[in-house]
Amino acid sequence: MAHEALDHASARLWAENWHLLAHRSELAASRNFVRFDILGREVVLYHDGTSVIAFDNRCPHRGARIFDGDTGCERFLCRYHGWSYAKGRMFVADKASLTHCSIDQIALNTLHLAWMGDFVFVAQTPAQSLEDQLAGLGPMLEDISHGIGQRWDFNRYLYEADWRIALENALEPYHVGPIHPNTLNTLNLQPGENRYYGRNSVWSAPLGDERMVRRMRSLSRLFDLPHQFEGYESLYLFPFTMISSTFGFSQSVQHFLPATTPERTHFTSRLFTGRLRPAIKPELVTSFMESSATMNRAVFNEDHDICKRVARDTWSMDPPRFWSASEEKLLHFRESYRAAISGG
Ligand code: FES
Ligand SMILES: [Fe+2]
Repeated sequence: MAHEALDHASARLWAENWHLLAHRSELAASRNFVRFDILGREVVLYHDGTSVIAFDNRCPHRGARIFDGDTGCERFLCRYHGWSYAKGRMFVADKASLTHCSIDQIALNTLHLAWMGDFVFVAQTPAQSLEDQLAGLGPMLEDISHGIGQRWDFNRYLYEADWRIALENALEPYHVGPIHPNTLNTLNLQPGENRYYGRNSVWSAPLGDERMVRRMRSLSRLFDLPHQFEGYESLYLFPFTMISSTFGFSQSVQHFLPATTPERTHFTSRLFTGRLRPAIKPELVTSFMESSATMNRAVFNEDHDICKRVARDTWSMDPPRFWSASEEKLLHFRESYRAAISGG
């Protein structure tokens, strides 16, 4: 498939779908923001003092970039000519010098925004409602979002593989033994079960080591989790997002966003703490969260290293010719991809 066709497909998937981009806890205070790179553009989620908005990170005046960081707490101020934005309004510097223009038409280039519990989704020109896109997965996502405390780790880099290659790797546990022998594989994940919700999917896999299960169960008393699977659970939200967790004690949210550079992906992984029961002091889970963050980063590095070896032109929308039963979700992904870019 030509590069242009792949890029066009990625652009369409970005524009027409809802994307889970943040948790409410990351945007709880005025001026909180989270920024993403996507196909040469940037989208920022921002608490403007009244509500959370999503916008194209370019000034409506002459296009200067507004936010540089990945996340933070900053005033929306364009440093070029000093325009600013707060509480749903754009403030123009030296307004009198623009009286010859229709300044009442000045507006940010915003994106659609929708909440599912405490998760916020963003879409440019959505082809359907968020509920329809989630195809029944909404209630579970809502419960997961309510079981989150706060962001603990933010990990971002330019991944040296096409997003489709990187994502498919995240969709199959066939590689866990050879690629993650001392990290993920220590959970001794069992074959588990795949469930499909429209173009989204969930894999739930019990842990094979009874001693570890008992140890994890004893930790459950610390957490207040509306949704908990006693094992490893991985959600795929079509097209670019994965959420994974062991026992719900922390949630890892990963994005594989397309880049304009061939064979590159804007990868971001965030680790969120599980919500603690009211009487539990956060210090009690500090070392647990630290080791989870270290483990997660190591797993993603291992995935990155192997994905670098897979060239983009090895990928197609057709099912792979040879596939293990544990790669079943690849077939579902490719079918979903084909349907989404052919307008189905
Ligand atoms: S480009 Fe932002 S104020 Fe001019
Ligand atoms: Fe992996």
